[in-house]
Amino acid sequence: MDILLSDLVFRKRPVGGMILNGRSALLGLPVRLLSDYCLGRTMLKRSILLVAIAATFIFQIFVQSVMALELDVNTRTVKLNEDGETVTLTQEQAATGKKKFNDTCAICHLVGGTKTNPNVNLSSQALEFAFPPRDNIEELVLFMKEPMSYDGAYSIAEIHPATSSADIFPKMRNLSEDDLVAIAGHILMGPKINPYSWAGGKTKF
Ligand code: HEC
Repeated sequence: MDILLSDLVFRKRPVGGMILNGRSALLGLPVRLLSDYCLGRTMLKRSILLVAIAATFIFQIFVQSVMALELDVNTRTVKLNEDGETVTLTQEQAATGKKKFNDTCAICHLVGGTKTNPNVNLSSQALEFAFPPRDNIEELVLFMKEPMSYDGAYSIAEIHPATSSADIFPKMRNLSEDDLVAIAGHILMGPKINPYSWAGGKTKF
């Protein structure tokens, strides 16, 4: 490479309507614009480029947010009760469940884990082997009203958020019956939405 920097300055031909000096061409930064004509075209090109970049960004954000909400029917179909009946949640219920779960439960149950007791997490298996099994909407809603120990022997409402102990857990005060159903749905959809990370990814379904 025996081309001198000064050579570059003189040899460089107009690039895209502008002439670059050697140093900035090396850095890839246009600095010197030669005439008003060049300036006009460059500005135009730049603004077209900017608009294109902005449009791409906005489009991506839009697509991502739609994709985040649009869950297919299979994902939204979960067990309703112990008899094995199922229910298909609406997109709205899915969105509500996600939001309320994140507001109220995720502080301890981030992505389906249980911070202070990892064994009793929100995986399909952990829910299924509780007594009575909690792998359905009805039992999860009951649990949020009156949470019981894993073996079903005694209430843990004084140490676990519940609508029955909303005096101790103020966040539970604002949850309607519909919210509880939506949250239960979010828990049951968890392994399907995040198969590799929900409750540490140990969930089979
Ligand atoms: C302060 C931390 C905390 C918050 C907040 C919390 N939980 Fe829990 N959750 C726990 C702990 C600890 C356990 C394990 C209880 C046990 O030992 O039986 C648990 C257990 C559960 C279980 C039983 C899991 C199983 O495998 O049987 C469910 C269901 C559950 N929580 C749902 C919720 C929901 C829904 C919310 C929000 C409305 C919530 N939790 C908020 C700490 C929390």
